[in-house]
Amino acid sequence: NAAEKGGYAHFMLKEMHEQPKAVADTLNPRLRDGEIVIEELGMSDDEIRQIQKIYIVACGSAYHTGVTAKYVFEGLARIPVEVDLASEFRYRNPIFGENTLVIVVSQSGETADSLAALREAKANGVRVLGIVNVVGSSIAREADNVMYTWAGPEIAVATTKAYSTQLTAQYLLALKFAQARGLLNAEEIACMVSDLKRLPEQISLLLSHKENVQKFANRYLAAEHVFFIGRGIDYAISLEGSLKLKEISYIHSEAYAAGELKHGTISLIEDGRLVVAVLTQPSLYRKTISNIVEVKSRGAFVMAVTNVGNTEVEKVADYVIYIPETNPYFANSLAVIPLQLFGYYVSIGKGLDVDKPRNLAKSVTVE
Ligand code: G6P
Repeated sequence: NAAEKGGYAHFMLKEMHEQPKAVADTLNPRLRDGEIVIEELGMSDDEIRQIQKIYIVACGSAYHTGVTAKYVFEGLARIPVEVDLASEFRYRNPIFGENTLVIVVSQSGETADSLAALREAKANGVRVLGIVNVVGSSIAREADNVMYTWAGPEIAVATTKAYSTQLTAQYLLALKFAQARGLLNAEEIACMVSDLKRLPEQISLLLSHKENVQKFANRYLAAEHVFFIGRGIDYAISLEGSLKLKEISYIHSEAYAAGELKHGTISLIEDGRLVVAVLTQPSLYRKTISNIVEVKSRGAFVMAVTNVGNTEVEKVADYVIYIPETNPYFANSLAVIPLQLFGYYVSIGKGLDVDKPRNLAKSVTVE
């Protein structure tokens, strides 16, 4: 009912607006005097240093946070990470070593495949860390250690605030691992922590521009296919942007690693086709800009999400949304906001049931 939605038209809109608080609530208890303290990890720095391999296992949007976290862990902590869909993981006979850590990410803590993956890892004697939102859920109870995301109850089927807190938790872990492994000094950690602390207000700022996204979304209600492109972390952001759009708007969408476009998907680009390009990683700007030029020359209409100051994108894209400045490793937390809003406004613009899209469940407890 209306009261439960706190004055918002839909749970999804309410939950998008709860993201600044959810991110802050997930962050703050783990920061002490500029240091990262994750007691519930239950691992000393010595034990962290012994970890040689991480598997991140999850489904849906939680899996997408893992795709991002892989870049962050590998980039900052230099530990090899494999990200697996939980429904694939246990059927591929994964290689578990003594120094392997399995991280299972789940909002509900009840997703059947994620729980089964956890059990598979534990049966092989591997330590499992759960990143879970629902306190006391099955994954939280069965994991060796659990790091809670403090998003609060999430009602809309399409996740927003839980996704944002899952990213936050994994940034903290990656920084902790990097520090324990001697790859970041106190000053570097402090600098990145101050970027993390700015995320909530930056997310608020992006949410405050929602009418602009709505106006743009209203022009694309009749779209049949939409493509999201990006490289590196921008590819991970594209995966989530595409999922958000398709699950609530019923528009076919695909996320593509921008460099793969010319291996197939570019044949689907024609006059007026919407392509959403994500460019938050400065080292990859030039490469993705050239992909924008390629789709533009085949008639695509390009909406770009990029960092403030990267005005060069305006020369090639038709519509540009800027995100505030942050460390590139954390850019997903900002760039995803306009993409969530885009999916939301296309869905309600089409008059669909945005909180309860057809055929989908909030928590998939069957295989
Ligand atoms: C469903 C939900 C998604 C979610 C996925 C995994 O498909 O609609 O929003 O990402 O399950 O759920 P979990 O509870 O394990 O995060």
